Amino acid sequence: MNDVLPDEVGRWQRVEQVYARTMSLYGYREVRTPYVEPTGLFVRAIGETTDVVEKEMYSFVHHDEPLTLRPEGTAGAARAFIEHNVSSREPVTRWWYAGPMFRAERPQRGRYRQFYQLGAEIFGDPGPGCDAEMIGMLVGFLRELCVPDVQVLVNSLGGPDTRTRYREALVAHLTPRAASLSPDSQRRLQTNPLRILDSKDERDQSAVADAPGLHDFLDAGDREHFQKLRELLDALGTPYTVEPRLVRGLDYYSRTLFEIKGAHDKLGAGDTLVGGGRYDRMVADLGGPQVPAIGFAAGLERLLIASELAVSSRAVDALVAPIGPEALGPALVLARDLRAEGIRCEVDTRGSSLKSQLRRANTLGARVVFILGKTEIDQGVVQVKDLDGHTQDTLARAQAIRIVVDRLMAASRSVDSRPPTAGNGKETS
Ligand code: HAM
Repeated sequence: MNDVLPDEVGRWQRVEQVYARTMSLYGYREVRTPYVEPTGLFVRAIGETTDVVEKEMYSFVHHDEPLTLRPEGTAGAARAFIEHNVSSREPVTRWWYAGPMFRAERPQRGRYRQFYQLGAEIFGDPGPGCDAEMIGMLVGFLRELCVPDVQVLVNSLGGPDTRTRYREALVAHLTPRAASLSPDSQRRLQTNPLRILDSKDERDQSAVADAPGLHDFLDAGDREHFQKLRELLDALGTPYTVEPRLVRGLDYYSRTLFEIKGAHDKLGAGDTLVGGGRYDRMVADLGGPQVPAIGFAAGLERLLIASELAVSSRAVDALVAPIGPEALGPALVLARDLRAEGIRCEVDTRGSSLKSQLRRANTLGARVVFILGKTEIDQGVVQVKDLDGHTQDTLARAQAIRIVVDRLMAASRSVDSRPPTAGNGKETS
């Protein structure tokens, strides 16, 4: 579980802003659900034999009530969707969320025990139109974040019947090979055989190499759904790869399944940035109406490792430097007036020397220093030191404010109008 210190928070906020904007462009509305839910919700929604439920949940009993810190956002969103009877008010619901999730995993680069997800769920649309739109949207989002080497993997798991028939065929194939499987997969053979397809263990990989393919078990409806998804992704110009062995770790999926990877050089094996898929049975399984659903979640820390989007580290635009104790009051007033014009500024209230205040301005990344001493106050002027242009002018107070406001606003506009991919990895504002 990590602290995020102020120097890093700017990048977090930038990614969150791009995400919130993307979501609103696509008609999603934000939902906020609790960080703690009844343990039974996750067991039912995610599946008793998944790694998340078996090994990774932070669960505790409070006044005889088993509770769990949410390991993901889908189960809570589905619970809220049912509890508030949302489907009676709208035929299609598009929700997004952002926040911490908790899994007791072995920590490594890009894998933490408290991590942040940016997620979304659509309830009420059986797809595949919204499936394709969601995947296309995510590729656009990752491009806007300047994530290199984006790769989309898609698969179809088929409906529940397909899963059952495939499961039987897979168990029949693996049972004679059980002795050569890893101990984990020997256990999974009884509980959750599909997960063996996903195993990174070489023994498991060779045992499944010639296993029957899931796609041979899809029924006509599943095939049509998947074929249409592919056509729509092509229509959107979204590149993808069909990965027939993609299964993912949560049990609730049916039909469309996808993962988006990127920045392999930086993330290595943990380069899955986004995971998602359709879960058409969950709402009904949790006691709600028969409502199909699809969603995804992206790991924010992983996006930050992968993203090459540069973000300004300037803490303020301006520093107000009072020289001498009598200048402190006028300096506080000047700073208040600057802030009213939208200028981010700090007053150096320590009573330190001009030299030390200029050092402080550099550390903060200020573009301008307003210097106020007794002489300036008596004459109603202020010295404006432009740290970018290396100039210094004595100006009437009101004129100084106007000139600096115009200059700083122009500088921030020229940054805002730059296309997001034009960044060179250096400063952007
Ligand atoms: P998930 O694949 O378990 O799916 O997680 C989604 C993403 O969260 C991963 O691709 C990864 O980027 C990030 N993530 C997961 N675990 C960790 C961790 N321990 N540390 C850092 N990042 C992590 C879900 O959670 C589903 N709820 C997605 C979904 C929504 N499916 C349908 N709707």
